[in-house]
Order: sequence, then structure tokens, then C-alpha cells
Amino acid sequence: MKIVITAGPTREPIDPVRFLSNRSSGKMGYAIAAAAIEREHDVTLISGPVGLASPDGVKLISVLTADEMFAAVHAHLEGIDVLVMAAAVADFKPAEYTAQKIKKDQQLTHIALVPTRDILKSLCDCEKNFHVVGFAAETESVAENALKKLHQKKLDLIVANDVSRIDTGFESDDNEITLYFRNGKISTFSRSSKQKLARKLMVIFETF
Ligand code: CTP
Repeated sequence: MKIVITAGPTREPIDPVRFLSNRSSGKMGYAIAAAAIEREHDVTLISGPVGLASPDGVKLISVLTADEMFAAVHAHLEGIDVLVMAAAVADFKPAEYTAQKIKKDQQLTHIALVPTRDILKSLCDCEKNFHVVGFAAETESVAENALKKLHQKKLDLIVANDVSRIDTGFESDDNEITLYFRNGKISTFSRSSKQKLARKLMVIFETF
């Protein structure tokens, strides 16, 4: 199976020393890449900036911004079987990049933002001959929000987790996930290491 996995946050630069980003550690996406390698799949990992070693055998494409991740995903769709968007892609970026460091005495009070492009939504109009898996990081109404994304982004499966909990989700080594399938099926995988969950997800991706 040929699989493309995105992982980690993106980083949206404000000036040469500052950026907007989020708390994604990349651990879930990297665990999925490792599980796919264990099963001898052909794995491309498109990763934002994380402090993790890429599993041996993975083709690693390092990106920084949401725009770079958008371009990298589109450049690697040829002949794939599954796209797994585990990355926490920034939804907004500064409207302008300031080439010199913004100094304190400039008394900056706000930064104008513009939306980034939604990578998953950008795939909807294409003739997709691969399966698409999204992730939903939620702090409230997890099921409702995840189902909305499943349908709006025309996914085969969305993996939802509650990131307001400190024992699972962002930065944690463990996760608890609920899977919402396009056909209405729902499965919950109780709290476990991201490695174990990744192996379970791989079995599902193999039987799409
Ligand atoms: N995603 C994407 N492109 C973006 C933002 C998100 O492809 N610009 C993908 C993520 O990789 C994830 C899914 O969309 O698989 C859901 O991301 P999430 O951040 O939970 O949802 P958003 O659509 O950004 O909505 P919100 O931030 O309002 O929850």
C-alpha cells in the first residue's frame, strides 16, 4: 500500500524571529508512519517542525508553513492508496510577513490574519481514487464537530480526539480516539499508547 501521512503543526512566520503555531507534537502522525513501515508499506511522511526522529524507511518531506504542506501533499498524491491528514495545519496566517524584526517600541497591538487554504477541502473536487482520513482535534462537542468535518471534507474516516484533556491528545504519549466512518459506523479505541492505536488504525486503512 502507498500511503501519505502528514504530521505535526505548521508554523506561520510573523517576522524573522516570531511565528504562529499550535501544540501539535507530531507523535500520532509519526506513530502511524512507524506502524505503516512495520507493515512494509510505502510511506511518505510530510511533517511540520517537530522534535521527533523519522522512522527508518520513511520518505520524509519537511515543511514549515500551511502553504508548503498544501503544495507537498498535492505533489505526492500520484498513485497513493491512502492519505492520512494527522497534521494540525494552521487555519490562519499573518496577512503580511515583516522582513525585519518588529521592535517593541513599534507598540504593535494586533496582527492582521488571513485564512490558509484547507488541504482536505481542496481535494474534494478532484477525482479521488484513494481513501482520505482526517483528524479532528476538539475541545467540546467532539462527535458533532467531527461528523461535520467528515461530511464537509468528504472523508472516508475521521479520527476524533478531545484535546482539552491532559492525559490524552496534544503532546501526550497516549490518546483516546473515536472513529467516525462515512458509512455511519462509529468505533471508540480507549486510552492507549499512540503506537498501539496507530497499529489498530493501520489494520483499518488496510481493509478500506
Ligand atoms: N486540515 C487541512 N487543512 C487545513 C486545516 C485542517 O487539511 N488548512 C485538516 C487537518 O489535517 C485535519 C482536519 O482538516 O485532518 C481537521 O482539522 P481541524 O483543525 O480539527 O479542523 P478545522 O477544519 O481546521 O476546523 P476548526 O479549526 O474550526 O476545528
